[in-house]
Amino acid sequence: MTSAPAPARDTIAVQLRGITKRFPGVVANRDIDIAVRAGTVHAIVGENGAGKSTLMKILYGMQKPDEGSIEVDGRPVSFSSPADAISAGIGMVHQHFMLADNLTVLENVVLGAEPGGFGRLDFGEARRRIMEISDSYGLGVTPDRLVEELGVGDRQRVEILKVLYRGARILILDEPTAVLVPQEVDELFGNLQELKSEGITILFISHKLDEVLAVADEITVVRRGTTVATVLPADVTARRLAELMVGGELPSPETRESTVRPEVVLEVRGLTVRAEEGRPLLDDVSLTIHAGEVVGVAGVEGNGQAELVDAIMGLRPATGTVRLGDRDLTELDTRRRREAGIGFIPEDRQRQGLLLEAPLWENRILGHQSQRPNVTGPWIDRAGARADTERIVREYDVRTPGIDVAASALSGGNQQKLIVGREMSGDPVLLLAAHPTRGVDVGAQAQIWDALRDARAEGLAVLLISADLDELIGLSDSIEVILRGRIVGSADPRTVTPEELGSAMTGAGEAGERTEHGVAGGPAGGRHGAGTVAAADSEEAGRHLAPGPDPVPPDSGPGADPDLDVPLPGTAGPGLTGTGTTGTGDLANDPDAGGEERP
Ligand SMILES: Nc1ncnc2c1ncn2[C@@H]1O[C@H](COP(=O)(O)OP(=O)(O)O)[C@@H](O)[C@H]1O
Ligand SMILES: [Mg+2]
Repeated sequence: MTSAPAPARDTIAVQLRGITKRFPGVVANRDIDIAVRAGTVHAIVGENGAGKSTLMKILYGMQKPDEGSIEVDGRPVSFSSPADAISAGIGMVHQHFMLADNLTVLENVVLGAEPGGFGRLDFGEARRRIMEISDSYGLGVTPDRLVEELGVGDRQRVEILKVLYRGARILILDEPTAVLVPQEVDELFGNLQELKSEGITILFISHKLDEVLAVADEITVVRRGTTVATVLPADVTARRLAELMVGGELPSPETRESTVRPEVVLEVRGLTVRAEEGRPLLDDVSLTIHAGEVVGVAGVEGNGQAELVDAIMGLRPATGTVRLGDRDLTELDTRRRREAGIGFIPEDRQRQGLLLEAPLWENRILGHQSQRPNVTGPWIDRAGARADTERIVREYDVRTPGIDVAASALSGGNQQKLIVGREMSGDPVLLLAAHPTRGVDVGAQAQIWDALRDARAEGLAVLLISADLDELIGLSDSIEVILRGRIVGSADPRTVTPEELGSAMTGAGEAGERTEHGVAGGPAGGRHGAGTVAAADSEEAGRHLAPGPDPVPPDSGPGADPDLDVPLPGTAGPGLTGTGTTGTGDLANDPDAGGEERP
């Protein structure tokens, strides 16, 4: 660690030449050329589906390139497995943390690192090395803490340390900031500077331009599988980078004038959802949304957002009342709530929103199996559903060879456009939109934003849940902050910054102080002293932010979530549907899983 001499920055740590990788029907990487200087942060940016992860998997030995060559520290290499890459000094931190929750940091770090196996380890020596690595890179890792007690940022540092422990000098971080709030991003960037100054080379994958500009020494832009430019951050603006990425105009979530009307569309009072053992997951939440109004909910994932949406949809038992216009929905099941005029873009499109194995036109019926044009009288109207699927494909620019292909054949962005189109059909009065553009490329994102804005102008009321704070601020007319199941404050999207929202979301800072910064503590926030609650010690938050910390991948297959375990379209189930029929399991939560669902 400290003993290794820092390599000169003009030596090339990784040279990729002419890398090409084909999957059935798609060229994921085409003729990629990248030279990564030793001891630098080299960012690779590109839209979703541009081929970044594929390239990194190739460099990490997880996939074999069809063409091209790789040199590490000037020597040609050919990897058949991650073990080969690790012995060449390359380590990768995946988007999903792979830590076992119920073990300590120490156990997690040494797990699988030693050929002798778990039983024959010298823990004293391991602890000493962990401390040495942690100190020399300023990671602040404590070996004897249980991973389940750690916040997301700490878990990520453990993952980084784990890779360094295996001797990595070249570190691949694939979308490391996707799970972090802005403050944690700053911390990570601090860590990266430290690693760099000790001679570690970092490949930093992102599609967020401001991050890339802040952290990178060099930036390579990948578009449609190939490298289009390598630039220095000083030489480009975010706008220019975006143009390189998409080859076109830069979209913005900004909505201009207010379209809020006086009529109340959704009125939620005292909504509470309890965990089995009685603990409230959603705690006495009240909300009002008017026609033409977008109400955003800001929160670290796992603080009750999913429960809020599910309770409004009638997907899980709740107390409190839900009114839509002048109708009380409280006693209605999900199908009737949908019929009353609620559209629903679920958080996890692959498990909740689609039947991946079913063709697009059958997916059109999903959740709408009692509504026109899918049914005429008691019968499924195949022709009606097909024609309307054609319309959605056209209007929402779903890129697909046809409506008979399986949903799994579409990229993540196109799957999402199909869902948005379906949920906007039948003129809903309320749309529940959970992460509507997560994992979606810039072009599809702009189209989804446009669809939401147009519908809002027509009077649609929208409840928007999003981890993308720019999106939340850009689209919302007002923002509520949720923490540990409670609404703890509200923010004015016209003035609040992502950083201020990030603070409010983690409960950092005093309620009064936050008011000055544009986030007002609500009555609940005041009463409960939100200032003392940090995301890091919210176990729920930790669990949800780091999907898959379990040693066993959460691939529990169909029926994993009893609330959503509904049979096929055409049957009159609770309305929404879909389980991981294709066994996407551990990828199902991946915001980036657009292209990775196929094994
Ligand atoms: N294992 C796979 N099988 C088939 N297609 C894949 C596979 N992995 C990635 N792809 C496809 O390759 C393209 C690039 O994907 P990916 O490398 O994940 O992009 P990025 O990480 O930039 O979002 C996408 O079109 C995706 O659908
Ligand atoms: Mg990726």
